[in-house]
Amino acid sequence: MSDRAFNTTPLRFFVTGTDTDAGKTYCSSALLRGLRLSGLQCTALKPIASGVDADGLNPDAKTLAAVTGQPTNVVNPLCFQLPTAPHLAAQALQQPLSLAVLEQLLPQSDSQLELIEGAGGWLLPLNADEYLADWVVRHQWPVVLVVGVKLGCLNHSLLTVRELRRAGVPVLGYIANILNPQLHYLAETLDDLSHRLQLPLLATMPYAPGGADDDVCLQLATQFRLQLAAIAKSI
Ligand SMILES: Nc1ncnc2c1ncn2[C@@H]1O[C@H](COP(=O)(O)OP(=O)(O)O)[C@@H](O)[C@H]1O
Ligand SMILES: [Mg+2]
Repeated sequence: MSDRAFNTTPLRFFVTGTDTDAGKTYCSSALLRGLRLSGLQCTALKPIASGVDADGLNPDAKTLAAVTGQPTNVVNPLCFQLPTAPHLAAQALQQPLSLAVLEQLLPQSDSQLELIEGAGGWLLPLNADEYLADWVVRHQWPVVLVVGVKLGCLNHSLLTVRELRRAGVPVLGYIANILNPQLHYLAETLDDLSHRLQLPLLATMPYAPGGADDDVCLQLATQFRLQLAAIAKSI
């Protein structure tokens, strides 16, 4: 075990999405790349994941670890094998999830900034009474919302933003992540999102299956830092 002293806590923020597959990992990886390109030391945490690849590791955690250089099991301390709702997997394994369990997963770290990727959407159950969102609210971590731009995203994003505001967490802004470039009225949908959400737009991520370009990542990181500064958490 290292005897290195960790005397700072990273500035933590939370990435949620309008749904599973909204692009949380894709956009988190782009944001981390942009932040690192702009000279910041960042780490990632995917506290709870479900689903593993042939190596027995969670693919989201692998993606994030590939950007930050952390070991995958450090990025993702709690992983369920089946790609299913984590609280159901936990229940089946008699390994209950709770806010108290999550609290133990917060790593010591000497990084400046730590991105925490949620699982599923904002209201991910941990058990009969608690939600992953409660952890974010408890810590008042600033939230980035990834909107998976596809049919149905207006409803999903409005519901999520309504709940974020009701819960009283700081919201840095949203990322419009284009999942379906063929969507009818794409430009109008993006415009409508912006008017209805009334949140800072951190980036519109083009549909790019090979990953986002460096300049897109850098622009995202710049907007993110501006919004952090706007809530007096500059880095
Ligand atoms: N902007 C994008 N362009 C192309 N593919 C994308 C984009 N955003 C997400 N994807 C793909 O969509 C799928 C779901 O994205 P992912 O980031 O894993 O979602 P989540 O983390 O919210 O579950 C992945 O295969 C990912 O590569
Ligand atoms: Mg993910």
